Amino acid sequence: MKRLVYCLFVMIAFAMNLAAQDVHSYAKPSAVRVKHVDLDWDVLFDQKILKGTATLTVERSSQTEPLIVDTRDLKIERVETSTNGVEYAPGTFTVGTSDKILGAPLTIPLPAGATRVRIHYSTSPGASGLQWLAPAQTAGKKDPFMFTQSQAIHARSWIPLQDTPAVRVTYNARVRTPRNLLAVMSAENDARTPRDGDYSFRMRQPIPSYLIALAVGDLRFRSLGPRTGVYAEPQVIDRAARELNDTEKMVVATERLYGLYRWGRYDILVLPPSFPFGGMENPRLTFATPTILAGDKSLVSLVAHELAHSWSGNLVTNATWRDFWLNEGFTVYLEGRIQEAVYGRARAQMEAALGLRELQDEMATLEDRDEILHVDLAGRDPDEGFTNVPYQKGALFLVHVEQTFGRPRFDRFLRSYFNHFAFQSITTEQFLTYLKQNLLDKDPALAARVPIDEWISKPGLPASAPKPTSPAFARVEEQAQRWLRNEIPPTQIPLARWTTQERLHFLKFVQSALEPPPSSGGPAGTQLSHTERVRLMGELDRAFNLTRSGNSEVVFQWLMMSIQNKYEPASARLEEFLLSVGRRKFIRPLYQELAKTPEGRERALAIYRRARPTYHPIAVTSIDQDLNWPGQ
Ligand code: BES
Ligand code: ZN
Repeated sequence: MKRLVYCLFVMIAFAMNLAAQDVHSYAKPSAVRVKHVDLDWDVLFDQKILKGTATLTVERSSQTEPLIVDTRDLKIERVETSTNGVEYAPGTFTVGTSDKILGAPLTIPLPAGATRVRIHYSTSPGASGLQWLAPAQTAGKKDPFMFTQSQAIHARSWIPLQDTPAVRVTYNARVRTPRNLLAVMSAENDARTPRDGDYSFRMRQPIPSYLIALAVGDLRFRSLGPRTGVYAEPQVIDRAARELNDTEKMVVATERLYGLYRWGRYDILVLPPSFPFGGMENPRLTFATPTILAGDKSLVSLVAHELAHSWSGNLVTNATWRDFWLNEGFTVYLEGRIQEAVYGRARAQMEAALGLRELQDEMATLEDRDEILHVDLAGRDPDEGFTNVPYQKGALFLVHVEQTFGRPRFDRFLRSYFNHFAFQSITTEQFLTYLKQNLLDKDPALAARVPIDEWISKPGLPASAPKPTSPAFARVEEQAQRWLRNEIPPTQIPLARWTTQERLHFLKFVQSALEPPPSSGGPAGTQLSHTERVRLMGELDRAFNLTRSGNSEVVFQWLMMSIQNKYEPASARLEEFLLSVGRRKFIRPLYQELAKTPEGRERALAIYRRARPTYHPIAVTSIDQDLNWPGQ
């Protein structure tokens, strides 16, 4: 019996240890942990490589174990080690076999007393975390551009390091570029630095590897407030500055809710359109897609989101990618609160309702295992687990706790949570323990109303989940119905007076009327003929010129509908969009939708063949898979 208990204990301890281990890194930080990185590169546009050194300062708990870092497609030239950071001696290294998802471990034996390791290396032109843009892919068309995207596990394709969010490092960097270009990093950037092709950076706060970022191009800076500003190409900078001029207000609003902004400056870099994401919360310097520049600030919730990560994600960080919902669920929740504070409750409600709808639509297509917040990603590429679940389900969970305990209590809890775990990387278990001790256990009667385990470990949504709705959307639906029932002409739909969010809801609502989803169980007779659907699409297009809309979210929705209803007049616009925008959230569903019919698939492949060389490696990997692109 005693033995059995002991065995059980060992098994549980082993399982817990496994849970703490990051399955997406070869590093063993419990033996040797990197604390600081000094980077030095030449940015070689003609060869599409970074070439230079990474000098890692380590803390050793074991005096015998080697340093193991992650790499992917790096060319390691030589390594040196040092005991004092002044004299370096040649060292040995081995590069293990390369795994398709994880890349290859680089193992460096450490001599007695060695605390520094310098790695001389260069990246490969196909590095998954870098994109090299030809001048034609920029707004200026004259100079090349490059940028990095490290999340989730792409930092290892441009820096040999312990590429797990459980390890935090400070860093310094020196970057040499062509003389007329500017380099910026997720660090202290001096906007007035002379443009001489030689730039230095310092990040004094410890950050996980996925937040190390660099961009180089013909960039200008515009101040937006005392500690906020924007970088963009000269052709874009005015538009960007106008669109983003509520940024300072957002920082103030977030500080009021969750405590001081701890990173000094908050700048935004507006990238060329091939940037594969909406935004990336690189500390001190959010990277953003130009597709948020709608002209009316209607898409700036993206800034609220990336800014919110300065608390949820960059300050308190997911320890492994299975804890990703701690980053994104909290951030979507904070984003809603910032939107409410800056733009009012109606706007926040609309955005929450759109979020719920997106979650429900996507969950209808997901396997159970991908609907779980504490998702098991062992053996999988973390980029694959990228769905609305960690975002929207994660946020709904927090809304549920908020509504149950009341805002004042929940706000106090969140503030103390961010302070308690500041500059730490934590697991879902650590969050749950903290939640239990600091909120749930203080009021067991209220706690009993939130099915924590169901939220965290089960697929789907609990029956008691909040269902955000928007009164404005109810009015939109009424107008849409009146038009669909032929009671008013399309010109009487007040679309011009609606916000972007109302327009998006209108389009989604119309689409579900044109083509009721199979699950809606409506009588088969409600299906409209193809001719009728095209006629209705044409009416809307003539009334509101949707095919030419300059709002990326609206035009994306419209193009999806155009594919679904085979509305030909939008087909040139579809091609133009797919050839000029690289944001994965837009282009991936468009290709997927096209590929549902044989003719559509032909068209998708023809466009993709031309567009693929302009897309980011991360977008290419996803779309190659979706389209079964030859060679995959
Ligand atoms: N950190 C994410 C982007 C990300 C996640 C990149 C995982 C790579 C792997 C960023 O904060 C984000 O969530 N961006 C969203 C926009 C946001 C408003 C929901 C995006 O890019 O769509
Ligand atoms: Zn995010």
